[in-house]
Amino acid sequence: MDVYASLVDAVGGTPLVRLNRVTGALTAPVYAKLEYVNPGGSVKDRAAVAMIDAAEEAGLLRPGGTVVEGTSGNTGAGLAMVAAQRGYRCVFAIPDKSSAEKIALLRAYGAEVVVCPSGVPREHPDHVHETAARIAAETPGAWHADQYDNPANPLAHYRSTGPEIWRQTAGRVTHLVAGVGTGGTITGTGEYLKEVSGGRVTVVGADPEASVYSGGDGRPYFVESIGHFVHPETVEDLWPSSYHPPVVDRFETIPDRESLLTARRLAREEGLLAGGSAGTAVAAALRVAAGLGPDDLVVVLLPDSGRNYLSKVHDDDWLRRWGFLDADGALPSVGDARIAAVGPHVRPTDTVERALATAHGAAGPVLVTTVALRPDRPVMAPEVIGAVSAERLRAAIASGTARGDDPVAPHAAPALPVVGRGESAAAALAALEEQAAEAAVVLLDGTVHGLVGRSALRTAVG
Ligand SMILES: Cc1ncc(COP(=O)(O)O)c(C=O)c1O
Repeated sequence: MDVYASLVDAVGGTPLVRLNRVTGALTAPVYAKLEYVNPGGSVKDRAAVAMIDAAEEAGLLRPGGTVVEGTSGNTGAGLAMVAAQRGYRCVFAIPDKSSAEKIALLRAYGAEVVVCPSGVPREHPDHVHETAARIAAETPGAWHADQYDNPANPLAHYRSTGPEIWRQTAGRVTHLVAGVGTGGTITGTGEYLKEVSGGRVTVVGADPEASVYSGGDGRPYFVESIGHFVHPETVEDLWPSSYHPPVVDRFETIPDRESLLTARRLAREEGLLAGGSAGTAVAAALRVAAGLGPDDLVVVLLPDSGRNYLSKVHDDDWLRRWGFLDADGALPSVGDARIAAVGPHVRPTDTVERALATAHGAAGPVLVTTVALRPDRPVMAPEVIGAVSAERLRAAIASGTARGDDPVAPHAAPALPVVGRGESAAAALAALEEQAAEAAVVLLDGTVHGLVGRSALRTAVG
């Protein structure tokens, strides 16, 4: 019989499929390693099985024990799949940036899920990693998988993903392109391929534009599970030890728009329904291949399925809301309305007095943002944490609820609603009316582009 004794034995052995249409006129072949074909739905199955096996062997995880992990979703699915088979309980801490589908998926495997805020510094007790570590410490019989610092994670790829790619390409692979989250995939696969090829394989990291791995300033970005974000109040930025930086020969840095729209093209032009990080990787691979010829062979790793992101990357309304899709042309869009320039920003720790001075004379509300004030770069949507107006602050001072030297954050109104520049003006107006808001922040490519009021939208709708 051609059967598996257990689901766990079916992990790995994923297909390598040539990209035929998104490659256009490129002459270098580009092959996609379809990691979403793994039984738990992502590349993370490999690390999950390896980490649990190693923990059992070391006596860290015993029958009836609890698997605990901080995960953006896929590692959790892999761990939960193995845990279900072997009778372990699972508790996962997951950032609220992760898609609703991923959270629902973990619960479907019977795991307990604790959703943690994404926008907090690394040292904050509610940070995903801190939460997972605390739950593990407080739960008898618990084992913290800690994919960021678990050598079994990169080793899984050194032992399986790397050898598979070498075998599948008959040793012809010249370039490996992959994203870097914990770094396990690129480290293990890259180190194996370099070793077996005598250093001939070039390893290229595919990184979100703002990620610090490739030298960005660590501000937020939209693609999930790859790159490295640094909250401005983080005291010490730690990189995972699962990532060995010397393995990466160079990086391609990919803006969110290019990542997300490449993922969309993969589905529409290749029939490959993959996630946003696969979009980043393929966008990088296309750039790499542009400098190569027919004797080269590029392998790009597609970590997970687009089914994880049907409400995000693969939803046109979501893409348009965050400013990643342009107007579809038929109806007046937000971009056709009069968009006011955004005034100066204030930081949450600025005083009420200073915020009042800033807001006084500003045309609209002043945004409270978590960023260090740098006029040379746009503010990302997730950095906007509130809005204040001069009237609001004056009223708070007059009623005695605020003092001039208080930090402004507790006195700010919640952040304004957001609308995408390519959204229909009528839909944006309806959204403002529904939320009883006078104005919205207009987004382009996930960044703050301006402010639009109800009356400007009404004029555009005509
Ligand atoms: C969708 C997705 N892409 C990429 C990665 C990054 O892989 P690694 O952690 O091995 O660097 C992950 C890891 O969780 C992921 O879930």
